[in-house]
Amino acid sequence: MELPTAKSQLLWQLLLLLVLGACHAQFDEVHEDSEREAWLHGVFTPQPLRAAPWEVDAVTPPPPPPSGGVHVPGVGQVFGLRGYQFIKNRPIDAFLGIRYAQVSSGLGRFQPARAAPYQPIVNATQSSPNCAQFPEVQRLQVAEARGENVDDCLTLDVYAPAGARELPVLVFVHGEMLFDGGAEEAQPDYLLEHDVILVSVNYRLAPFGFLAALTQELPGNVALSDLQQALEWVQRNIRYFGGSSNQITVIGQAGGATLAHALSLSPKTQHLFQQLILQSGTALNPYLIDERPLETLATFAQLARCPSAGRNLSPLYECLSRLRTSELASIFEQLLLQNEPRGLSALGGFKLVVGDSLGYLPEHPAALVASNSANNTLKPAVIGATKDASAFIVSRFYDQIQRLQSQNISDYINVVLRHTAPPQQHKIWHDLAIREIFTPEQLRYVNARSVSQGLVELSNLILYRAPVVYSIRSSYKKNPTYLYTFDYRGEFHRFAHFGNPLPFGVDASLSDDSVYLFPYPKDASNLNPQDKSLARALVAMWVSFAQNGIPNQNSNVWPKATSEYGPFLRFTNSRLSILELDQHFGESINVPNIYAQYFNTTNSTSTTTTTTTTTRRPYYPEQPYRPPQQPQYRQPAFNDYYAGEQEVRRQQLLREQQERDLKLSEQQEREQQQQEELLREEEERQREQQQRETELQRELQQRAQFEREQRQREQQQREYEARQHVDEDEQDERELQQREYELRLQQERQQEREQQEREQTDREQQAHLLPMDSEEQRLQQEREEQERAQEEREQESREQHEREQQQREQLEREQQEREQQEREQQEREQQGRGEQTYATNEENAPDPSAYPSYEDYVKAYTLWVEELSSLYNPESFASAEQEASPDDELANDRYAQPDENQLYSDNNPQRIKLMRRYQRFSF
Ligand SMILES: *[C@@H]1O[C@H](CO)[C@@H](O)[C@H](O)[C@H]1NC(C)=O
Ligand SMILES: *[C@@H]1O[C@H](CO)[C@@H](O)[C@H](O)[C@H]1NC(C)=O
Ligand SMILES: *[C@@H]1O[C@H](CO)[C@@H](O)[C@H](O)[C@H]1NC(C)=O
Ligand SMILES: *[C@@H]1O[C@H](CO)[C@@H](O)[C@H](O)[C@H]1NC(C)=O
Ligand SMILES: *[C@@H]1O[C@H](CO)[C@@H](O)[C@H](O)[C@H]1NC(C)=O
Repeated sequence: MELPTAKSQLLWQLLLLLVLGACHAQFDEVHEDSEREAWLHGVFTPQPLRAAPWEVDAVTPPPPPPSGGVHVPGVGQVFGLRGYQFIKNRPIDAFLGIRYAQVSSGLGRFQPARAAPYQPIVNATQSSPNCAQFPEVQRLQVAEARGENVDDCLTLDVYAPAGARELPVLVFVHGEMLFDGGAEEAQPDYLLEHDVILVSVNYRLAPFGFLAALTQELPGNVALSDLQQALEWVQRNIRYFGGSSNQITVIGQAGGATLAHALSLSPKTQHLFQQLILQSGTALNPYLIDERPLETLATFAQLARCPSAGRNLSPLYECLSRLRTSELASIFEQLLLQNEPRGLSALGGFKLVVGDSLGYLPEHPAALVASNSANNTLKPAVIGATKDASAFIVSRFYDQIQRLQSQNISDYINVVLRHTAPPQQHKIWHDLAIREIFTPEQLRYVNARSVSQGLVELSNLILYRAPVVYSIRSSYKKNPTYLYTFDYRGEFHRFAHFGNPLPFGVDASLSDDSVYLFPYPKDASNLNPQDKSLARALVAMWVSFAQNGIPNQNSNVWPKATSEYGPFLRFTNSRLSILELDQHFGESINVPNIYAQYFNTTNSTSTTTTTTTTTRRPYYPEQPYRPPQQPQYRQPAFNDYYAGEQEVRRQQLLREQQERDLKLSEQQEREQQQQEELLREEEERQREQQQRETELQRELQQRAQFEREQRQREQQQREYEARQHVDEDEQDERELQQREYELRLQQERQQEREQQEREQTDREQQAHLLPMDSEEQRLQQEREEQERAQEEREQESREQHEREQQQREQLEREQQEREQQEREQQEREQQGRGEQTYATNEENAPDPSAYPSYEDYVKAYTLWVEELSSLYNPESFASAEQEASPDDELANDRYAQPDENQLYSDNNPQRIKLMRRYQRFSF
């Protein structure tokens, strides 16, 4: 028993040791030293166990990129069109419609876009449609009907020579007026004869790019944020297409130049590119700065029938976000058509705004120019304008000039100023125009024809030339700046299809220089040899600038500006050379110093004294230029100054806002009053109607009552008459009885008398001796006869009296009846006047043909009510107008005259409709 016990004890101990050892070994396997420490100290927190080797998934390698195309990290595999064109025997690749950002829907259409997501495969074989714009409303409507997203238009096109590497990049910002145009305007044909990459960008236009409440929701200047995203895309990705992100030149045309300049001034975007080419546009062009963005918004809201809110803008946002993109584009067109004739101050919605909530233009561009100059952050630039760039804008309001018929030049100048300059500058420009632009002859003999040329010069100066001068004034010394004007008149104009209302032909209108840069539009793409050689020169210089920062290696051909006026290069039709060097960019007119408040130096114009213009100008050297007197202005410290400016601007915007709120509330009050008035009128009408109905009811009752009474009266009358008859009969009977009685009495008396006579005669016969008795008898007889006659007379007079009485009663009855009839007649007539006639009972029903029936009355009344309500229903109003338009044939031809004879014949239904329409209008 002992041995096995000892043995088993040993065995147990061994077993225990084995188990402990095994446990320890396992512990070692799983835990690190530190963990063991923690374990030993009792503070271990368990960690997830590592997966066993057999549990680890095999790592799936990413799918290999599809072959072909350009692999762009973060973008995708971009498939474009290899060998899109062969230019100078070199294949050019095109990558079309690459999405660089995504526009959200609703209110997002007015807000900065989101980054475009990565797509494994990017199909870049088709250029995308233009961003939404009113000239393409039909396309938008069709696309919307197909359920396409017309807002997502932020694409760019890249053109690159095959196998390009590290080439300079030209990023084109298309024109024209920031409410139209598209990336398609930049085609590679001319530029890509050279070693450059061309990028052309779509950005949002008009309301989608610029409508502003200066809030987070409607920030304004969203087009600039689009271009920023495009430039960032180019920065990140252009090297995959053979471009160099260190040599990016942004080139803008017209409105696009305004944006390009703004990009170069904005602290948010100026680092994204190196150089600038501005063709007929700067950020200082007053035409493209909305001085009253909130008023523009109010007008837009009004046209959109959106609540043009005061301080609470959310109903407006709500409304705008609901409207379709095509509708918003149409509303902008309405705004343009409605407000353009009223001049610059009333026209916005497609312009830069100062103080956008995104921070692109924290200050007026002139202030940014000044501070960029001070910080030396302006870029090397080619800046210029076509000779008659403003003719495009002048021709839009030239009708107002033609209509003037004034002998006073000021009237003409003022029209131009209303359309081109902010009001605070009008006097300065007006005086300058009289002094510098118009000749004494033009001032003496004033008419639209004779002053047109001068007016175009003035507007050129205000919109294009002076802003260029202001833009480079404080920077030309530090930054190479190349000035040009494009005076060349070739075979094509960029906007030939617009026609020219001006009384003279223009040499180079807005964007005519682009005709020689890009083969666009197609009509203008087939250049004649002379135009082609100019195109070669222009393109060579633009490319040279992009490549080297110098447009022409020969500095004698195109030197950089040494003053804010020049020297500058002029592209001309001169036989000797298409290029001329000239000295004074302001056409020999020194620009007034209207932005003095933004610049530290106010009198640098004094540096230019001599001009050597080769073109004759209407310029009079007898009147030397005197800079206009600027009010003495003490410059505050730089930053304080801008802070102050900002504050002033904020205050002003607030004031404007308040004024607008006030106006709005007044408007609303007026509308409220109108509404109430309408309601009151409606109530009045209803009350009248009710009154009429109750009257009608009452009259009906009265009439019924009256008829009842009448019937009763008649009945009574009849009964009375009947009674009367009975009475008469009784009377007759009584009379008869009386007469019979009297007759009987007479007979009896006669008999008595005869008896007496007989007795008398008997007595006389018996005794003749009694004569006295016969005498008495005779007397007695006479008395009796007299009594009888008396009685008869009385009887007769009684009968007579009765007859008379009856006649009187008869007359009275007749009289009553007549009066009754007259009363009835009167009542009937009254009812007839009130258009309220009705069939009465058979006996005295009026002639049915003389009165409308009750149904007629109801019909007439319903018609009247319908007509009345149509007065307040614009839809049926419009349809009535349509109805009123003479006939289909005429409706189709809106210039056709209606046939007057037909129209004015009295029973023509159209005439009646027209008359009704005019009556409505005169309401
Ligand atoms: C790109 O799209 C076009 C038309 O939508 C189509 O014909 C073409 O095959 C597509 N290309 C690629 C590479 O997907
Ligand atoms: C210029 O520099 C000042 C400070 O030196 C700065 O506040 C301002 O934002 C700069 N302006 C621009 C346009 O960069
Ligand atoms: C022309 O009109 C302006 C006002 O618009 C007036 O001040 C000026 O005296 C007028 N000039 C002449 C010559 O009548
Ligand atoms: C403005 O000019 C004054 C001297 O005229 C100079 O001292 C100052 O530094 C200038 N300021 C700027 C921002 O250039
Ligand atoms: C501006 O003119 C004044 C005198 O008229 C002169 O003293 C000053 O130096 C000028 N400033 C510049 C920047 O030319």
